[in-house]
Amino acid sequence: MDFHLQTQDKGSKARAGKITTDHGEIATPIFMPVGTVGSVKAVHQRELKEDISAQIILGNTYHLYLRPGLDIIQQAGGLHKFNGWDRPILTDSGGYQVYSLAGTRKIKEEGVTFQSHIDGSKHVFTPEGVMDIQRRIGADIIMAFDECTPYPCEYKYAEKSMHMTHRWLKRCCDRFDATEGLYGYNQTLFPIVQGSTYKDLRVQSAEAIASFEREGNAIGGLSVGEPAEMMYEMTDLVCDILPKDKPRYLMGVGTPANILECIALGIDMFDCVMPTRNARHGILYTSEGIINIKNKKWEDDFSPIDPNLGGYVDTFYSKAYLRHLITSKEMLGGQIASIHNLTFYLWLVGQAREHIINGTFIDWKNDMVKKVSNRL
Ligand code: GUN
Repeated sequence: MDFHLQTQDKGSKARAGKITTDHGEIATPIFMPVGTVGSVKAVHQRELKEDISAQIILGNTYHLYLRPGLDIIQQAGGLHKFNGWDRPILTDSGGYQVYSLAGTRKIKEEGVTFQSHIDGSKHVFTPEGVMDIQRRIGADIIMAFDECTPYPCEYKYAEKSMHMTHRWLKRCCDRFDATEGLYGYNQTLFPIVQGSTYKDLRVQSAEAIASFEREGNAIGGLSVGEPAEMMYEMTDLVCDILPKDKPRYLMGVGTPANILECIALGIDMFDCVMPTRNARHGILYTSEGIINIKNKKWEDDFSPIDPNLGGYVDTFYSKAYLRHLITSKEMLGGQIASIHNLTFYLWLVGQAREHIINGTFIDWKNDMVKKVSNRL
């Protein structure tokens, strides 16, 4: 993997860059649609490419390991061959999913024991095991095994957990560096900064993570319920410590306004279930603000969903028709809304990139943050 920093914004810490992987280039800042089980919910791969212009998608180790399982993915020739997505893929390590299984998991120095949400069967994830699993899944970018602390989190716990995440990272790197990809293309490992909402821990963690000198770095443990201002403060602090010449990935963030603010702090990569999950419930993100399409006010609004985006579904279908589909619980409603929201997220980061390159980012960003937070 290679990262080329193209433009550094003068009015903020925003950057425009290019990541090159064996499955193609990613222009940053970028949003990565979430494809938990190897499928972005309600959206097929041609739509991801042609309508949404997605450049990279995310998969989840935890889900893919449990179902369909590694033997099937390996028999297919890796996840790209299995799901027909030939552009880059990033897999999260399970360090987040496993912790969401509160009650059915045990965290120890060796690793985490957990029960499958599908059949209750018992499994163990260790840093080494999670590297081997992600090697077999075959993502271009794989994530270190970490512990994502909840919010709020006591200082003592956050500190202990952070140190364990660092020790796990050493084990991840040792295993990753001692193994090779199975499918003939390169894979790269991103470590994850933790430290909850404590400034001194975040600084310590960012310094520790940077010292591993991997090809990219991620920030975890945010957007877990803390106030947005706190998330921005931690992100700013960590970005100032992480190397400038490597991509920075803020995990699980966020709303359109969160993404714009964090681009201004120097983040290059984002992922979040929000655009797809909310789409299925009729919450639409548009260039003018947020729409709850189930509201009666849209019943006879025959204007396009959002013609400013220039995407197919946004221009072709009306708000009234989409409202009808969503209120009737038609599958097509969830599909159109998901394609629309992802088209919007990709449009938003694409616009941010253009404004960074043209030197007009900060005024555009401030104006856009207000617009995208409007409730229409
Ligand atoms: N997704 C969102 N936050 C996190 C995190 O802290 N760790 C991991 N592995 N994934 C995440």
